[in-house]
Amino acid sequence: MTTPQSGILPLASSHAVFILLRRRLGRRIDAKSRECLAMLQTRLAAQDCLGVVAIGAETFGDVFEGTRPSELRAFPRIPGAVHAAPVSDADVLLHLRGEHLDRLFDLADACVHALADWLEPVENIAGFRRSQGRDMTGFIDGTENPDSDERPAVALVAEGEWAGGSYIHTQRYVHRLESWRKLPVKQQEAVIGRTKETDEELDDDDKPATAHISRVVIEEDGEELAMLRHSLPYGTPGGERGLYFASYCHTPQVFEKMLARMISPTSDGRVDHLLNYSRAVSGGAFFAPSIEKLATLA
Ligand code: HEM
Repeated sequence: MTTPQSGILPLASSHAVFILLRRRLGRRIDAKSRECLAMLQTRLAAQDCLGVVAIGAETFGDVFEGTRPSELRAFPRIPGAVHAAPVSDADVLLHLRGEHLDRLFDLADACVHALADWLEPVENIAGFRRSQGRDMTGFIDGTENPDSDERPAVALVAEGEWAGGSYIHTQRYVHRLESWRKLPVKQQEAVIGRTKETDEELDDDDKPATAHISRVVIEEDGEELAMLRHSLPYGTPGGERGLYFASYCHTPQVFEKMLARMISPTSDGRVDHLLNYSRAVSGGAFFAPSIEKLATLA
């Protein structure tokens, strides 16, 4: 039997912490770190929280012996990109979520402490759900996420040794909110490809090829590629504000194809105009093994 980690399938939470960690020079996973990874789900459940720990391609072999998830690889470097998609020096992702930020803080703090001989944090962001699920651009994010019954097929590896696991990509985006807010709503809608207030997709005639939706909706063999997004807005008043993007999928290919269409011109010369108002400042690619696989680390 395989059970996905608790942070993958449930609907959005009010709060999340996203922590990227990298291996300390010359260090290998130690007993305390193994115990932390193996016990994370139990500790989260005891606090009524959800979460995921996921491991990147370079470090996976240090944690799990034997065959690796077949598609696990580094964050993509997209040829011909005209917008930045930086790759972070990160080996492990902690994505904890729930309704109580104080509990998430305590759990994350204890984890980072337990992992400290092996890993050091390189990015640490607390995201929060805004009214109606609107992100800092004012648009509702997550509308086209798969429904609950479709989520396992979209987000989880179905078969084989790593069944119940999920390929994760994260990117921290910083918005240029001053210029975004100067843009009339009609033009903002053309950038996203949906209406702002009523959250409806624009008609094909009104939706530019440069709209975010036009870039990320990709049809292959008559079916739209699908991913499960758990992105959340984050920021400090008057400081950096943006979106912490996080996608979960049964294959890394979906994110790679969508990102390529966002940042690298297609044959028509188009890219995603959302990136005129938002830039990526971090990026990571990870695999979240099933709870049973994590338990073997104890
Ligand atoms: C600045 C960063 C981003 C912002 C502000 C943003 C915002 C949005 C918004 C407002 C929507 C429409 C509502 C919805 O269906 O969720 C959307 C849809 C979507 N976004 Fe993004 N997004 C960002 C980055 C990304 C990235 C990096 C990807 C993938 C590589 C992505 C993939 C998608 C997908 C798959 C949809 C659903 C499209 C559909 O089926 O209609 N987004 N995004």
